[in-house]
Amino acid sequence: MSGAQRRSVILGTGSELPTKVITNQDLERMLETSDEWITVRTGIKQRRVLEEGKGNADMAYHAAVRAMADAGMEANDLDAIIMGTVTPDYLFPSSACVLEDMLGARKAFSFDVNAACAGFLNALAVADSFIRTGRARTALVLGSDALSRLLNWDDRSTCILFGDGAGAVVLGASENGDRGILSVLLRTDGSYAKTLYVPAGGSLRPANPETVQNNEHTITMNGKEVFKVAVRSMEEISRQALKEAGIDLEQVSLVIPHQANRRIIVALAERLGVPMEKVVVNVDKYGNTSAASVPVALDEARREGRIKPGDVVLLNAFGAGFAWGAAVVRF
Ligand code: ACO
Repeated sequence: MSGAQRRSVILGTGSELPTKVITNQDLERMLETSDEWITVRTGIKQRRVLEEGKGNADMAYHAAVRAMADAGMEANDLDAIIMGTVTPDYLFPSSACVLEDMLGARKAFSFDVNAACAGFLNALAVADSFIRTGRARTALVLGSDALSRLLNWDDRSTCILFGDGAGAVVLGASENGDRGILSVLLRTDGSYAKTLYVPAGGSLRPANPETVQNNEHTITMNGKEVFKVAVRSMEEISRQALKEAGIDLEQVSLVIPHQANRRIIVALAERLGVPMEKVVVNVDKYGNTSAASVPVALDEARREGRIKPGDVVLLNAFGAGFAWGAAVVRF
């Protein structure tokens, strides 16, 4: 190959949002809250919720089909399916396995990655490694979550923040050219495990009538702490990923940050010195969709014509763990 470098290239993107919408006005009727409080603190106006009787893989399926059509690829062309999620259809098997069967992807090996809101970037990093090392030529990478299933709808400090959705990209190997994933970095700090978590339902505190009674199967969070560490960490890792890619911030056409909260996004953009015109924001429409937020925003940005061939895009995310990551991609 005369020194040519193998890279993962994004060949297609797709997304799926459930049709059911819950607006801030709907929440006003359910809780002691207001559209004004939610809008000022978070920028969120509405969120989507997966209908009852459906699971994560039902959403992921539609995102995957769209991404494969965009890439001009069939299910049997896939070597790997890797899904970032903390809300699989079952505790096991993985939703990636459920999805593999739905797609009829007979050649693929499939698994889930648990890194909460940073799940897509973790899945992307793993897929990128398989492709760079030649273990896979193609991969379907997803971020797909239904956090509505983990919410206490009586807890106004958390239930207003989250929504459901799925996003997917198809990666392929490229031996020449300068397109593709230029860098992808991951970090974690497990000392924050209980700053944002679901206390029960795992092996430590399996479900029992008491845990259900106490709502311990729902998200528990110290929002102020998350806010502080999220902004700082996403700035740092973004700068590191750019450095590793050999890209200056001025060369970045678009930043696609995790959509947790408009204030976090604005604070991050200010710290990076990037004008908001170059930052994708859709948190107003969907809330925080966890692992889905970055690939959904990426897919929307592509469909809106905001990404042209040759553009360099910076992705970053932060979530429970704490786990965070950033990637630099040339389209
Ligand atoms: N409506 C009205 N009042 C509310 C609501 C609500 N929905 N929620 C909380 N309040 C009240 C509180 O009870 C409190 O009242 P008090 O002063 O009488 O005690 C007051 O508002 C202030 O509450 P705080 O929690 O201090 O509000 P804060 O300004 O920190 O905003 C928020 C809370 C929006 C959660 C903020 O901390 C935040 O965005 N944190 C980031 C969390 C996040 O994005 N997590 C997502 C997962 S991780 C990730 O994806 C990055």
